[in-house]
Amino acid sequence: MLVTSRAHDEYVAMFDLGDRDLGRSIVDVAAGSSGFAARWSRRGGHVVSVDPAYAVGGTRIAELGRVDLERGSAIAAEFPDRFVWDWFGDPQRRQAMRSRALAEFLTDLVSRPGGYLAAALPALPFRDGAFDLAISSHLLFTWADQLGLDWHHAAVRELARVAREVRLFPTVLQGAGDPVPFWAELMARLDADGLRCHRQRVPYEFQKGVDEMLVVLPR
Ligand SMILES: C[S@@+](CC[C@H](N)C(=O)[O-])C[C@H]1O[C@@H](n2cnc3c(N)ncnc32)[C@H](O)[C@@H]1O
Repeated sequence: MLVTSRAHDEYVAMFDLGDRDLGRSIVDVAAGSSGFAARWSRRGGHVVSVDPAYAVGGTRIAELGRVDLERGSAIAAEFPDRFVWDWFGDPQRRQAMRSRALAEFLTDLVSRPGGYLAAALPALPFRDGAFDLAISSHLLFTWADQLGLDWHHAAVRELARVAREVRLFPTVLQGAGDPVPFWAELMARLDADGLRCHRQRVPYEFQKGVDEMLVVLPR
């Protein structure tokens, strides 16, 4: 699995965040080497980033982040029909934005180490309702060919345990953006757990046609 470096502005768009959310406590799960927390906390927001990769230390994450940045750019070049550039503008802007995000992450990791925690779904080391909002980008659904129904069910329940609201992006598999094969079964299970799920369009699209987050709320 890749350790990627999406930028603060991508997160704001993917999760439809705004100034109104600065007063909310946020946990970003599977945060990787994203630059979101660095800038969001500079803006006065409260965010804790969680990822099992943090156990390997900043130097190794920097290496992984750089490798995956190159790999991501190569994939975008190899499959031009899978991507649209309205949001980024062009490949150079995307590369620059992601490089800056990785640099901001690495600086923040050193200056604000308490904001980064090594842990993995589906078991998070937080009390019930510890956060107002849990966000997670490009782990759930993205890897639904490797992480199955039971894992996703446990992971969403765990996110909904530690936060009052959960937002997940995207809602399809990586690659060609195929639908999640166990989507209906997962939604039925979450409904039976007393969780209300709905898809919401967001102002972000890179993978063609992939512009929805899943919002999970208690009933
Ligand atoms: C594709 S990256 C996404 C990183 C970041 N959210 C972004 O959008 O750039 C997926 C991340 O999920 C993390 N990950 C893998 N298994 C995980 C788990 N069980 N729980 C939480 N994070 C996990 C990986 O270490 C990796 O950093």
